[in-house]
Amino acid sequence: MRVTVLTIFPELFSDFVRTSLVGRAVVAGDLRIDIVDLRDFTEDPHRVVDDAPYGGGAGMVMLAEPWIRAVRAVTAGRDAHRVLLSPIGCPLNDASVRSLAEQPDLVLLCGRYEGLDDRVRATVVDQEISLGDFVLSGGEVAAMAVIEAVSRQIPGVVGDPASVEQDSFRDGLLDHPHYTRPREVAGLAVPEVLVSGDHAAIARWRRKEALRNTLRRRPELLEPSRLSAEDRSLLEEVRREVE
Ligand SMILES: C[S@@+](CC[C@H](N)C(=O)[O-])C[C@H]1O[C@@H](n2cnc3c(N)ncnc32)[C@H](O)[C@@H]1O
Repeated sequence: MRVTVLTIFPELFSDFVRTSLVGRAVVAGDLRIDIVDLRDFTEDPHRVVDDAPYGGGAGMVMLAEPWIRAVRAVTAGRDAHRVLLSPIGCPLNDASVRSLAEQPDLVLLCGRYEGLDDRVRATVVDQEISLGDFVLSGGEVAAMAVIEAVSRQIPGVVGDPASVEQDSFRDGLLDHPHYTRPREVAGLAVPEVLVSGDHAAIARWRRKEALRNTLRRRPELLEPSRLSAEDRSLLEEVRREVE
């Protein structure tokens, strides 16, 4: 998969593209990340990328022309999917991550200031994505979130594919709690079943705790049509325990 990031702060990505799973995916050739400086597409000696808004008011707006030139240049001869990171886009979730992961060639546009002149969106953007209902100072952190989430979907990037399959949201549920050594911390012991060696009982406990987490924290995620008969009976147990 290839990802091109357009930004006025390319230096923000220098450690990011070399670190952890993303860094390993780049080295392995599973992921190619090109960081492109938007200012390279300005045509004035001061490499200006913003100007005052028409209509007046606070803040500066990013000029359309450097953006349009940059997107057209980096996508020339390619069938890339162009994504603008924006608080007014559709919130990123597991479904949109998986659909982005199917794109072999992604271009991520990172805004700054009050955002981009709207003609950029109208001419060279296929999709607008938000990280959530809050405002960041720039699209770079959002672009990193997209790259991290999407790269986990590329086969081979996460060592054990089962770990992606058991992640929260994958089957509509939140993850179950995890524990590691030591067996007791701050007076709290690891649940007995996890040290029982009984794999069927462990699987059942994990499923039940995933259902409990989802019911407690995000009940709106529980879709009856996605629950098996076993899930429904575990959920009943959880509900009885809560009463
Ligand atoms: C300060 S914000 C602009 C906010 C804009 N005036 C508004 O109120 O919607 C500058 C840039 O940060 C990025 N950004 C801010 N919040 C974001 C979010 N929740 N998701 C994705 N990108 C975001 C966008 O690229 C945006 O153009």
